[in-house]
Amino acid sequence: MESFLIKGGLPLRGEVTISGSKNAALPIMAATLLTDEPCVIRGVPDLSDTQFMALILKSLGAEAKFENGTLSVRAKKIHGHADYELVRKMRGSICVAGPLLARLHKAEISLPGGCVIGARPINLHLKGFESLGAKIEIAGGYVRATAKKLTGCTAFLGGRAGSTVLGTANVMMAATLADGQTVIESAACEPEVVDLANFLNAMGANISGAGSPTITITGVAKLHGAEHQIIPDRIETATFAIAAAATNGEVTIKNCRPDHLRAVLDKQRAGSMTIRRGKKLAAVDVTTLPYSGFPTDAQAQMMSLLTLVPGISIITERIFESRFMHVSELARLGAEIEIEGPSAIVKGGRPLNGAPVMASDLRASAALVIAGLAAKGQTQVNRIYHLDRGYEKMDVKLRKLGAKIQRVEEK
Ligand code: EPU
Repeated sequence: MESFLIKGGLPLRGEVTISGSKNAALPIMAATLLTDEPCVIRGVPDLSDTQFMALILKSLGAEAKFENGTLSVRAKKIHGHADYELVRKMRGSICVAGPLLARLHKAEISLPGGCVIGARPINLHLKGFESLGAKIEIAGGYVRATAKKLTGCTAFLGGRAGSTVLGTANVMMAATLADGQTVIESAACEPEVVDLANFLNAMGANISGAGSPTITITGVAKLHGAEHQIIPDRIETATFAIAAAATNGEVTIKNCRPDHLRAVLDKQRAGSMTIRRGKKLAAVDVTTLPYSGFPTDAQAQMMSLLTLVPGISIITERIFESRFMHVSELARLGAEIEIEGPSAIVKGGRPLNGAPVMASDLRASAALVIAGLAAKGQTQVNRIYHLDRGYEKMDVKLRKLGAKIQRVEEK
């Protein structure tokens, strides 16, 4: 296993270019299963998660070639069984269910199970499929969705933490080939859902309202091949912006959509932006919410920054129940944080000192890298395979900004 060795205390300076969005790419890659014609997706970030999704497409019978950020897929003949070993490794693989159900009227997928950030059920995905007329059976750890035909319906996808991003993607994809009109109510409004709808429309689907809580899909008989460019990754953007602030640096972020990050940046310019610290940082309270609220995927990184800011900041996590695994690791660097139910109380302003720490999930890893960049001395972040799932060449990008960060074999 690999680790990052970071010599902290240096300000990040220069320019960084943001990669395509992982969470837009994964469902869009799955959507290529909806047609037997060739599709070309550009701007796909080279990550272990996208490589893995390409493998899943191949395992289902598609031809897929992934080179220099461009993925070409032709799903001429496919089958509907996604194996336990595949789904177990990446929860996002659940989004092949909608396309398989739409095209084959049959999807058999291992139940994804929980992960370190929370229980992560798929009840809302299944409820949406049932509303479209699918029969759902769960046996032997697999969920089997079958339908003689899918029929347009009203599917309400609101859950206890708001809507569901991949659930909305799944139901939207399943409805593209259904008979008649489907209305998704309480749909997720995330930009990744809009990107998927744009790709599906380019394939000949008839979708309106994506980006709002009500999405209308009028079923069509067939979808065709299409080309698409993935949107920039808003979470990678937030991560570099926070890292710039945490190291008291000055970073120009290129290929980004600040309008996708209003809750993080409070800014709306498009294209590129420069992040520079103001004279004094102030403690703030942050609550994660569905889009356009503060993203749960930037919560851990924000916590690292707030440990450096004098005063008390309260971070409340409203999307995933146990997404505070980074707290005990930040404590190893000297941060003072207490967990009270869904909130973390950060007593900020104490200097951070380097230490060995362990990454537990993708965003927690990014938080530890930020803290390591800001800390005095050397930080070793272990198990960075989590980070490689969702950040393209993060160490290379950080080195270009002047960081002292090396990838080494874990001892
Ligand atoms: N939920 C249910 N039932 C469901 C589905 C979800 O109760 O059927 C709950 C979840 O337990 C959670 C909440 O609804 O409390 C939101 O979960 P959601 O379904 O929106 O999450 P997801 O679609 O599985 C995507 C991203 C996550 C990101 C979340 C929230 C992908 C591949 N994953 O997951 O990304 O945190 O939306 O924005 O798009 C990451 O990139 O680090 C990551 C975890």
